[in-house]
Amino acid sequence: MLIAYKDARVLTTTYLTQRLIHDLMLRRKTGQPFIRQGGGGRSTSNGHIATVFGCTGFLGRYVVHRLAQQGTQVVVPFRDSEEARHLRVTGDLGQIIPLEFDLKNRETINECVRHSDIVYNLVGRDYETNSITLVARNFSFDQVHVDGARAIAEACAENDVARLVQVSSLNANEDSTSAFLRSKAKGEKAVREIIPDTTIVRPGTMYGQEDRFLNRIGTGEGWQFWVNESQAKIRPVYAIDVAQALEVILGAESTMGKTYEFYGPKEYSYQQLFDIAREISKKPLPTYNLPTSVAKLAASVLDKFPYNQMISPDLIERMTLDDKPTPGALTFADLYIEPTDLDAVALQFLRRFRSTAVFDLPYEKGEGQVKKGVYHVID
Ligand SMILES: NC(=O)c1ccc[n+]([C@@H]2O[C@H](COP(=O)([O-])OP(=O)(O)OC[C@H]3O[C@@H](n4cnc5c(N)ncnc54)[C@H](OP(=O)(O)O)[C@@H]3O)[C@@H](O)[C@H]2O)c1
Repeated sequence: MLIAYKDARVLTTTYLTQRLIHDLMLRRKTGQPFIRQGGGGRSTSNGHIATVFGCTGFLGRYVVHRLAQQGTQVVVPFRDSEEARHLRVTGDLGQIIPLEFDLKNRETINECVRHSDIVYNLVGRDYETNSITLVARNFSFDQVHVDGARAIAEACAENDVARLVQVSSLNANEDSTSAFLRSKAKGEKAVREIIPDTTIVRPGTMYGQEDRFLNRIGTGEGWQFWVNESQAKIRPVYAIDVAQALEVILGAESTMGKTYEFYGPKEYSYQQLFDIAREISKKPLPTYNLPTSVAKLAASVLDKFPYNQMISPDLIERMTLDDKPTPGALTFADLYIEPTDLDAVALQFLRRFRSTAVFDLPYEKGEGQVKKGVYHVID
């Protein structure tokens, strides 16, 4: 076996390469060895096979990209093949393996995990999905976050998968007033009962190009953020930072059995976030103080529509809750990652909402405070 010690050189038929001791990795639980070849990017292989459930979502694409870039072969389970198409180009030919699965069908889950040495569960839903009959739910929060997570953990245990990483949510708590957050906490418990050394990751509200957060604020669709006088305080986190942390976790066996909370370096009220969005987009983006009970009533009507994907009473409830990181919990700093400052990158995500007349104006924080009606939207 080509195990390399520091400065040992291995002459291959095509190129001279250097392997170092840290190119060799052993899975603590199974003893499987992995030898890395290449320095990252195309034609790199690190020997790992990862399954990323929930890869078709917002965070998923960044996780798959990060893993593939480091030479990991990535199994991408999907429900709708169109939703997984963009993931194919994140790796070399044959490196990204799409497999159809159903969260309620154990055979398909087994098929997705049986070759992998690490499984990520990113499956989650902000709302409960209605069936066309309006009577039963297709997937309740518990079915997705508890039963689904349990099924994935059981499949990992059956197939001797060395590592499981469960993505939960900041503020997950069995006593929370939000059903979403309660189900996330129950999901954490369910996976730890089956695989005690599961790594649990709790991200805060994530932002990025395809988010459901700054994009809603920028387009003015974010009326749910107006509840609680937009004073709820959150710590938004950059999706790419979370993806980077998930990539680090792949190789860091010391993260087994631990819980990490990933949140941004600054706390903002929704009001402050609207101010940033106004400054950058140069749009008035008016907000109104919506009584929580009225918002919930409106949301519960909208929630009855089968194809509503935006609003639910539980989402309104979450919009009234402050982010409360657990004191002493492990964070980015424990993985030597410095989280991105939202102020530093918000321009990338919010400039697209500017009208063409002001598109090229620079953004300097504090300047150009937008007063209602000063900027006219020319679309
Ligand atoms: N985004 C945030 O701000 C935020 C904050 C805290 C925690 N989280 C958690 O972080 C994880 C990733 O977030 P995200 O924003 O990337 O989520 P997302 O964009 O909503 O994607 C969710 C993923 O889960 C899959 N999924 C949902 N319900 C499913 C079901 N019944 N059966 C099979 N697959 C299902 C989706 O597959 P389809 O494409 O087939 O629907 C998709 O791949 C989730 O667990 C989420 O709860 C997110």
